[in-house]
Order: sequence, then structure tokens, then C-alpha cells
Amino acid sequence: NTMALQDRFGRRARDLRISLTQACTLRCRYCMPAEGLPLLPREELLTVAEVARLVDVAVDDLGIEEVRLTGGEPLVRRDLEQIVATIRTRHPDVPIALTTNAIGLARRAHELRAAGLTRLNISLDTIDAELFAQVTRRDRLADVVAGIDAALSAGFSIKVNAVALRSTLERASELLDWCLARGLELRFIENMPLDAEETWSASDLVTAADVLDELSRHHRLAPIGRVDAGAPAERWLVDDGPATVGVIASMTRSFCRSCDRTRITAEGRVRPCLFSDDEIDLRTAMRSGATDSDIAALWKTVTWRKSAGHAALGVLTHPRRTMGAIGG
Ligand code: GTP
Ligand code: 5AD
Ligand code: SF4
Repeated sequence: NTMALQDRFGRRARDLRISLTQACTLRCRYCMPAEGLPLLPREELLTVAEVARLVDVAVDDLGIEEVRLTGGEPLVRRDLEQIVATIRTRHPDVPIALTTNAIGLARRAHELRAAGLTRLNISLDTIDAELFAQVTRRDRLADVVAGIDAALSAGFSIKVNAVALRSTLERASELLDWCLARGLELRFIENMPLDAEETWSASDLVTAADVLDELSRHHRLAPIGRVDAGAPAERWLVDDGPATVGVIASMTRSFCRSCDRTRITAEGRVRPCLFSDDEIDLRTAMRSGATDSDIAALWKTVTWRKSAGHAALGVLTHPRRTMGAIGG
């Protein structure tokens, strides 16, 4: 299929993730340095029209089936509603998801829903205010909870992503109960070496198995597998269902072999893999008069070279970008 974004390992990208900014309202220790990432000059960010054009090429010429907007924190962009609405108008049937920390969502959830946003993944590691402030370096749990409540009332279906940490592990089932009470689907994610201080170490990794052991002390869990082969989350039925809890075992059961993602950084560079710094600059290409087929060709070129993935628990090197500069 010459239309598709394929790589030399036989994988095909169907899921496009576009970072809209590197700025964030939190400073989660596993994602960003304390001072935050350098503020990109406005002209280095993609405009609404450029985001829309990249989505057009991805969907119309490259077979992308779903778009996710990420950051940094995408709510930092005041034109987020306009970005969603523009994509929605041009692609009525393409799911548009948002990965967000929910700060500021309380005021914007209804408008985002009206603009055509399909679903939300909200990052929340603990509902203990003190621990939250320790992990994120900001005392803003109440803003996150207000954002979640508003998103529920706007009618969104919501997944909660919690990075599994030593400090929050004993409260894993408290977070699960909180999510179950609100009808949110919780997934625990293994911490990946994409932090700024490079303090990640395999020996402190809280594994998916550790999380499941902890949850099993409070709940009956029965495995039900993945939604589909490419989905990173493995799911368990909680107390005979219908609610589920998921684990994303990016380190101990890496899913690189079935990876179906392609990413655009906030500066408009295609980055096929989280762990490889191999990128191609589409923003400069667009601004120097590239046609849609030139853009598609560049995108295919860098995708073909896509890395096999990370070394799991083998010799891991930190890529140049931290998670905050990729978007997850
Ligand atoms: P859904 O379709 O909503 O399930 O999206 P998703 O499973 O892609 O979830 P999301 O984008 O919220 O990702 C959850 C977390 O999984 C991210 O924050 C990352 O920590 C991890 N993750 C996502 N994509 C990748 C990937 O391509 N590689 C690896 N190794 N981890 C990833
Ligand atoms: N490892 C795993 N997940 C991470 N995230 C951020 N940094 C890391 C990391 N080092 C997750 C956040 C959020 C998404 C944007 O990425 O929790 O859900
Ligand atoms: Fe895909 Fe790279 Fe993530 Fe592996 S590490 S799942 S190849 S993006």
C-alpha cells in the first residue's frame, strides 16, 4: 500500500499524535525539568492552518485513522477549540482525542465538546493533594478535579492515565475507587526513561505486576486482554465488571513490535518513535512551499527508517527529548 506510512519492520502508522506546545501548567518529575522546557518562540509553533494541513495529508494521503492532540499541555494553547473545530469540519468521521492534565478544562470542556472533540485522556497519578503536589511540583489537584467534573458533565468519555510511582503505589486502589465511582477508565503506565534529570533506573521501576499485586489486595481482577492488538493497555475486569482497569507495561512487556503511532513535535517535526531522535522537519518544508505530496514523501521517508523501539530493560539510553517535548 503506497498510501500508507510503513516502516522496514512491517508496521503501519494509523494513529497520529500532534504536540501543540511544550509549555505545561505542571512539572511532573518523570516528564519535565523543574524549570520547565524552553518556551518556543511563537513562530516556531504550528499555526491552526498548519496543524489542519498536516492532518489533511495524514488522513487523505497517508491512511491515518485517528488524531490525538498532546503537549506539553495542549490547554495552554488558547486556540485549541479552533484547532479541534477546524479538523472536525474537514474530517467529520475521524476520532479526535486529547491528552491533558485537565487544568483549565473546567472552563473549556463544553466548548471543546461542541467543537467536535471525541474523547479525553486525563493524566492523574494520585488524588492525595500532598502527594500530587510532590509528583507534579504544583499544588493544583483541585483544578484537575474540577476539570474532570466539567468534562463529565460535558458528556465526554474519559480515560485516566497514572504513571506508576513508588510514592503513589500504596494509594493505587484509592485512585481506582475514585475513578470507578465516576465511571472513569483508569490505566497505570510504567514509567519510561524520558525524564529530564535522568534519574530513571530499572531497579526502582514500579512494574505493571507490582500495580496488579497492590490492586489485588483490595479488588478481584480478571484479565480480559487488549481492545485490539495494537492497543498498549492490557485490561482487567474489576470485581466481575463491568468496570475495568488497565496497565500499560511499556517497559516490562514492550509493545514496540505492534506500534502504530506517528508523532509531530510542537515545532512541526515528525518523530516516529518516542525513543529515537530521528526526526524530519515538516514546518520548514511547509513554509518553503512544499506541496502536499512533498510533505507526504518526507513523512514516509522518516517513517521507513523508524527505530525498532526501545531496548526495554536492556541498555537504555535517554533520547535528547524528554516526554514533555514529545507528548506521549
Ligand atoms: P487510547 O487509544 O486512548 O487508549 O490511547 P493510548 O493507549 O495511546 O493512550 P495514551 O495516548 O493516553 O497513552 C498512554 C501512555 O502510554 C502514554 O502517556 C505513554 O506513557 C504510553 N505510550 C503511549 N504511546 C506510546 C508509545 O508509542 N510507546 C511507548 N513505549 N509508550 C507509549
Ligand atoms: N513515562 C511514562 N509515561 C509518561 N508520561 C509522561 N512522562 C512519562 C514517562 N516518563 C505520561 C503522562 C501523560 C502522558 C502525556 O504521558 O502521565 O499521561
Ligand atoms: Fe513505538 Fe517507539 Fe513507543 Fe516502541 S518506543 S511503542 S516503537 S514509539
